[in-house]
Amino acid sequence: MKVFTTIAELRQQLDSDRNAGKKIGLVPTMGALHNGHLQLVKTSVANNDMTVVSIFVNPTQFNDKNDLRLYPRTLDKDCALLETVNCTYAFAPSVEEMYPTEDTRVFHLGPVAEVMEGKYRPGHFNGVAQIVSKLFDIVRPDNAYFGEKDFQQIAVIRAMAAQLGYTFHIVAVPIVREPDGLALSSRNARLTESQRRNAPKIAETLFKSRTFAASHSVRETIDEVVNTLNAIPEMRVEYYEIVDGNTLQPVADWNDSDYIVGCITVYDGEVRLIDNIAYRRPEK
Ligand code: PAJ
Repeated sequence: MKVFTTIAELRQQLDSDRNAGKKIGLVPTMGALHNGHLQLVKTSVANNDMTVVSIFVNPTQFNDKNDLRLYPRTLDKDCALLETVNCTYAFAPSVEEMYPTEDTRVFHLGPVAEVMEGKYRPGHFNGVAQIVSKLFDIVRPDNAYFGEKDFQQIAVIRAMAAQLGYTFHIVAVPIVREPDGLALSSRNARLTESQRRNAPKIAETLFKSRTFAASHSVRETIDEVVNTLNAIPEMRVEYYEIVDGNTLQPVADWNDSDYIVGCITVYDGEVRLIDNIAYRRPEK
């Protein structure tokens, strides 16, 4: 695997690959890689000739400076993991390389970006759009891979890509979970022993709510999930919303859409965990 730190060198490499007719996959990450990230990389490696994994802790998407400071940076370990899944290129630029001048772009991505994470983390999706649009321009991939763990992020990136006229494929990869159900996240390492013991209850409650939903309304299902999790020591639900899987707007009734997803954010102690579950999915 080749590691690049400058845009110019990566572009030069990819130009020559493209001229040779190679298909290019892009997996944007912030590093601290785990099996969730690696699943995206494996999917890209299986479907492209070349895979670029970007590793960049993007300052413009952090609305909490402390969170940015504490974000784990483990480049050597990340590169070793990427080697094991046959990644072709890692791109690990400095902040100055990606933002030589302040990025003052403000994206208007519509309703998908305004609900849930958009409401609770103001500015977050604008920062994501800034960095991902830069990566799209640098790499010009044939396919770009994102995890369904960040369900709303994919919708926001699709909205941005439509607005900017990108026509390549944006591929959504299913959530990778621990054997006990907890969605893999670099934040899981910050949980205390007792918080970690309770954390799988999030996924468990979501999965159980599917059965509950068969005989209850959307409103009752939301209340059931929120009340169950809030009763667990140290857990506090920030939001649980049941939304249309495409527009991310709340549904009132199970018949409102053929694609319905529940999106949750829970504080387990100080650690903010997110997860989601599909109640209905359109048949392919
Ligand atoms: P990061 O949190 O590092 O995640 C990188 C990608 O890995 C995202 O697409 C995320 O959804 C996916 N991912 C994380 N945990 C996963 C899991 N358990 N199962 C499946 N996929 C998982 O998301 C970001 O970085 C940033 O916002 C980024 C898009 C890189 C822009 O800076």
